[in-house]
Amino acid sequence: MEKDKLAMEVNKRRTFAIISHPDAGKTTITEQLLLFGGVVRKAGTVKAKKSGNFAKSDWMEIEKKRGISVTSSVMQFDYAGKRINILDTPGHEDFSEDTYRTLMAVDSAVMVIDSAKGIEPQTKKLFQVCRMRGIPIFTFINKLDRDGRPPLDLITELEEVLQIDAYAMNWPIGMGKGLKGIYDLFNQRIELYRREDKNESFLALNEKGELAEDHPLKSESIYRQVLEEVELLQAAGNQLDTAKVAAGKMTPVFFGSALTNFGVKTFLDAYLKFAPAPSTHKTETGQEVKPNDDAFSGFIFKIQANMNPNHRDRIAFVRICSGCFERGMDVTLQRTGKKLRLSNSTQFMADTRETVEEAVAGDIVGLYDTGNFQIGDTIYTGRTAVKFEKLPQFTPELFVKVTAKNVMKQKSFHKGIAQLVQEGAVQLYQSYSTGEYILGAVGQLQFEVFQFRMKNEYHSDVVMESIGHKIARWIDPAQLDEKMSSSRNLLVKDRHGMPLFLFENDFSERWFKDKYPDVKLTAKL
Ligand code: G4P
Repeated sequence: MEKDKLAMEVNKRRTFAIISHPDAGKTTITEQLLLFGGVVRKAGTVKAKKSGNFAKSDWMEIEKKRGISVTSSVMQFDYAGKRINILDTPGHEDFSEDTYRTLMAVDSAVMVIDSAKGIEPQTKKLFQVCRMRGIPIFTFINKLDRDGRPPLDLITELEEVLQIDAYAMNWPIGMGKGLKGIYDLFNQRIELYRREDKNESFLALNEKGELAEDHPLKSESIYRQVLEEVELLQAAGNQLDTAKVAAGKMTPVFFGSALTNFGVKTFLDAYLKFAPAPSTHKTETGQEVKPNDDAFSGFIFKIQANMNPNHRDRIAFVRICSGCFERGMDVTLQRTGKKLRLSNSTQFMADTRETVEEAVAGDIVGLYDTGNFQIGDTIYTGRTAVKFEKLPQFTPELFVKVTAKNVMKQKSFHKGIAQLVQEGAVQLYQSYSTGEYILGAVGQLQFEVFQFRMKNEYHSDVVMESIGHKIARWIDPAQLDEKMSSSRNLLVKDRHGMPLFLFENDFSERWFKDKYPDVKLTAKL
């Protein structure tokens, strides 16, 4: 691809994830966005998939059972001159390290909050990963058509719980049955609430921020109240600071109702004004790879296995960081130095998988993989070797003891575990005292996928015994004394041989710290 064309194409890309607690409305809003992009024709398509009505024969069985859609892992559409990639981050039951790692592949995030519930645990966890990356975060407070909490309360909670500055781009005029519309500070207009099938209707504001023309709304007390609240916000609240937004230190907040498609387009239009195009990525040696660079490079952030049980294939998801991907191109896999031909690639639309011929920095492509790739791998073209910074490891919270059901089949058991752990599917630990294998994950789904793949790919039936939630804390081997292990913690080593304690709860961790004040414990290796 020519340099100018590449620069133009890259500039069009907006790649983001929607983060939320289950039921806040992520699926509903995604669907509305896809409708704007003309990708799905009627509301309900994505939803139907989620509930499993959407027959897709080649889903991994376990996914089918849970109704997770593989094709909705990445959704691409064009809107207002931009090419938008939405990456899915599943909710709590489907939660896994993949969910976190997906956030390594986006340039910004949209946080959806239920106006009746405010900040919920899952939102908080996902937010923290975005915060760690310093990417811009936009907030959509959803379900205005229902009675929710007062908007000022929600904004205060956002700032206090997440420690981020908030800036209201618009403000609800009423809620639930009394919802009249939103007062749009950003566009200086009022957007009237209307039924889903009606067109948007906007009323202009004058320079004083009041309705320019006579309208029945003017005589309603809620209108007066909103004017007062907006005045208060402008006097005492934050000012919109684009530099802070870009650094992920301020979140622009939008109100709306995804279900009735109210305020979603307003959100999308404003979002696209602020959302960043693909940015540079750092290599391990601190060099910056620019998205417009000629040479292609990318990293693998997710591997999805066995989507088609007949073919035993898996798909490695690549975030393109620079240059242009062309089907059939030869790349170098940095970890092994091996050359690979990328002839079997796929891109994901809302309801189909299509073979992708060309893609540029910012896009995600799926590569059919026969076992070449691992999570965190870099692939590149050109003579200069590229190795992107390591993907962070996320401290597991759930643990199980794992054994082979059939003691005679130890070989396939060990082989399967070694490969799946290397691939990044789960974390592996071994007890100091008994030598037992313990698996760690951030979500239950990871264990289920592990069990399923052990059986299907390695013909090894495994028995997993839950040992529940634990707090994993690494200890400097020089400070370790095996006598520190007690009934309140479990001493294990990770796959690099580094020692860590799995504490029962906060109390047992504190108890340990009190007993050994000089010992340093860390949450991550
Ligand atoms: P999720 O992907 O974040 O888990 O949430 P999802 O979109 O599935 O929405 C969860 C529930 O909230 C759904 O109801 C959905 O219809 C509803 N919902 C989403 N946005 C809005 C909104 O703006 N207003 C109102 N009133 N409800 C909203 P459900 O009863 O669980 O599903 P369904 O039976 O309606 O399909």
